[in-house]
Amino acid sequence: MTQVRVLTGITTSGSPHLGNYVGAIRPAIIAAQDPDVDAYLFLADYHALIKCQDPVLVANSSREIAATWLALGLDPTTTHFYRQSDIPEITELCWILCCSAAKGLMNRAHAYKAAVQANEQGGADPDAAVTMGLFSYPVLMAADILIFQGAKVPVGRDQIQHVEMARDIAQRFNHNYAPLFTLPEAVVDDKVAVLQGLDGRKMSKSYGNTIPLFGTEKQLQKAINKIRTNLLEPGEPKETEGSTLFQIWSAFADDQECEAMANAFANGIGWGEAKKQLFERVNDELSPAREAYQRLMATPEEIEAVLQAGANRLRPEASGLLDQVRSAVGLRRFA
Ligand code: TRP
Repeated sequence: MTQVRVLTGITTSGSPHLGNYVGAIRPAIIAAQDPDVDAYLFLADYHALIKCQDPVLVANSSREIAATWLALGLDPTTTHFYRQSDIPEITELCWILCCSAAKGLMNRAHAYKAAVQANEQGGADPDAAVTMGLFSYPVLMAADILIFQGAKVPVGRDQIQHVEMARDIAQRFNHNYAPLFTLPEAVVDDKVAVLQGLDGRKMSKSYGNTIPLFGTEKQLQKAINKIRTNLLEPGEPKETEGSTLFQIWSAFADDQECEAMANAFANGIGWGEAKKQLFERVNDELSPAREAYQRLMATPEEIEAVLQAGANRLRPEASGLLDQVRSAVGLRRFA
């Protein structure tokens, strides 16, 4: 039986929140358990440097994200779990790809274009604060994917373009030099919920509306109490449509529980009571993992050992492909 190789990266420039859990972590861990899938999951810490130049934040975020995935049940014996910066072959491949990737292609990348547009609107130089890291971000992402022949790449909508660029870069290399790379394809799961944040917009660090995944129970309760509701009193019927509270409930509850909550809304459940029930439901799902998380955070050497084992297991594969790539472009030993 041949497995499909599924590969994805997580940029380590923040602390995991409930939206990451529902939208990315939970579905990825479930998907990785499929015996037909050969899963590659890595901490994209070189990507983090593009967004964040605070060394303490970058280091802490890597550790929190690694602990989070392990605590939530990622099995590092069946999923390749590693840190991008432990595989130097990735950055080596990145340079080689830079030398054949078209600059014009990078000009069209959304993240770069958005930065330029913001500068122009603010009357600044178009490239103000645009680093080469930001500009070449899609090439690094291509190297991440191509070094391990990732075939399917699960991503959010905002990343589809980058996967298409990786495909383009691979195609160009295969055509110009040697057909060494698998052409990757983005996979976007429409069934996965995009969680709303405290203010009803998409839960996102950049909106400051997140609920932290592994705060203390008290912090979780406090955050849930801050979810925006309307002024309807207990006893007044409430709409589920457009309710952030109900949307978050739906991401955790099964069909039966959703129906029960919808009935409670219709029967005028008070917001305080609904929040209490939401807290209990979310907390029940998270508390075993929260304990595992705290234990892992207190024993970083354990996380490190897992990541080192992951990198050691993979580097021969990466360097095997890189040897072929070097040779294909003419970087060869004389004898
Ligand atoms: N750029 C992705 C993001 O911000 C993370 C990422 C880095 C990635 N390298 C990747 C995703 C390779 C998929 C494949 O979400």
